Amino acid sequence: MREGNLSLRAKYNVTALFYDILDYPWERVYREWRPLLLGDLRGKVLEAGVGTGRNFRHYHESVELTGVDLSDVMLKKATRKAGKADCKIELIHDDASVMQHVASNQYDWIISTFLCCVMPDEFQPMALEQFSRVLKPGGKFRLLEMIYSKNKTIRRRQEFFSAFVEKVYGARFDRKTVQFIERSPDLEITAKRFLKDDVYLLVEGIRKET
Ligand SMILES: C[S@@+](CC[C@H](N)C(=O)[O-])C[C@H]1O[C@@H](n2cnc3c(N)ncnc32)[C@H](O)[C@@H]1O
Repeated sequence: MREGNLSLRAKYNVTALFYDILDYPWERVYREWRPLLLGDLRGKVLEAGVGTGRNFRHYHESVELTGVDLSDVMLKKATRKAGKADCKIELIHDDASVMQHVASNQYDWIISTFLCCVMPDEFQPMALEQFSRVLKPGGKFRLLEMIYSKNKTIRRRQEFFSAFVEKVYGARFDRKTVQFIERSPDLEITAKRFLKDDVYLLVEGIRKET
């Protein structure tokens, strides 16, 4: 675990206790998206920042899932949901920018939902390096994040909530995830689209073959 992530882990170890309740108003929207993001995946999948395991029930039964999270309390909640999922799930307590317990070149997919908006910019290039290390050549990734809108009304609302969102979730709307992926030597973006407004950004890509 990187020292800079210890405070984030501490935050999530507290937030975990009421995460599913606190997040419920947003989850009513997200739960419509989760099956669409996950239902077509097959093979070995690594989900980074699994949280309380809200994605688990949407994976196909043939998926072999490895879930990583830096908060042991979030993972404890995820363990309960893993028991009800259709697919095989292994949960690992690890930092996605380190992934010391994850072997190289073995995953068909990397998935994360609302991880990179939480992860400080300074660690994102390291997390992307880990993503390319653990993906098979040609393996794919799919990331769902929140960013600032260009619409003034939506932006004002985001700015109003930004202090709360950062305090409780460690999340920010101004992370530079896309720029970091574009600079990554081994990853390539193949598609970008918004799921709602110009805020909820889905980024898809591959680990280059060479
Ligand atoms: C906003 S929650 C999202 C949880 C889940 N993916 C979802 O869609 O509900 C972010 C999660 O990422 C985890 N996280 C943050 N930084 C991480 C890191 N460097 N490595 C692994 N997990 C991390 C947090 O502990 C938290 O569980």
